[in-house]
Amino acid sequence: MRKFIALGAVVALLGAAGCKHEPLTPFIDGPNPDTTDGCDPSTVYFQNEVMPIFASSCAVPGCHDAATAEKDVVLDSYLNIVNTGDVSPGNPGNSDVYEMITENDPNDRMPPQSSGITLTPDQINTIYEWIGQGAENNFCADSGPCDTVAVSFAEDIQPILSTHCLGCHSGSAPQGGVLLTGHQQVSVVVANGLLLGVVSHLPGYVTMPRNQPRLADCKVALIRNWIEQGAPDN
Ligand code: HEC
Repeated sequence: MRKFIALGAVVALLGAAGCKHEPLTPFIDGPNPDTTDGCDPSTVYFQNEVMPIFASSCAVPGCHDAATAEKDVVLDSYLNIVNTGDVSPGNPGNSDVYEMITENDPNDRMPPQSSGITLTPDQINTIYEWIGQGAENNFCADSGPCDTVAVSFAEDIQPILSTHCLGCHSGSAPQGGVLLTGHQQVSVVVANGLLLGVVSHLPGYVTMPRNQPRLADCKVALIRNWIEQGAPDN
């Protein structure tokens, strides 16, 4: 808690100086010293929850990957997000990246309608909370229980796909020609074995999510068990 108060003071100072472009303390790369074993449910962790949203929905070819860098905004890593997205720690409303995804005018809102990619209200809220909590490069190793006995498509599988995959695998031109928008579409890559292969990083398969670390063990286990349970639409 003390951490947030300290950050609040920094933000207040920044506000007084009227210059959010030159933070008093530079952003630090790499998981910060508060990296924890076990996840505090009230904390939004950048590496666990926020980076996958940017990687999947924004840092894609033709948009905000390093090669395209549309409008000089690159959203492929922590430092690029906070710097080129003009993140103001503790102040989502004063952070370009948050303003862009909540623009009132649908023509100005990101991701563009033409991309067919949309952020869910939960994803927008995750980004809001993360900036509000200080926009740290934090990570938690979730060693908590992983209940893979009765896996639900709606409650377990869809949220994983939504966070890690849908940015690239939805819309009018899904990557690799693979749509993962609903049970029917996902069933196609269950049946041909590709889903399990790509998320488990089995030999001979491309690895997904593309250009990112393997999903947490619990998420891979959930997907594997759901498939073994017959991949029901439950
Ligand atoms: C940053 C974009 C991106 C993200 C995020 C992403 N994919 Fe992909 N995916 C691709 C591309 C591009 C291809 C085409 C194959 C290639 O070039 O690697 C692909 C191909 C696939 C394929 C077909 C593989 C094959 O051999 O034909 C599957 C299945 C797949 N992705 C599943 C997923 C799943 C599941 C996730 C989330 C855990 C995910 N992808 C996240 C970009 C992405």
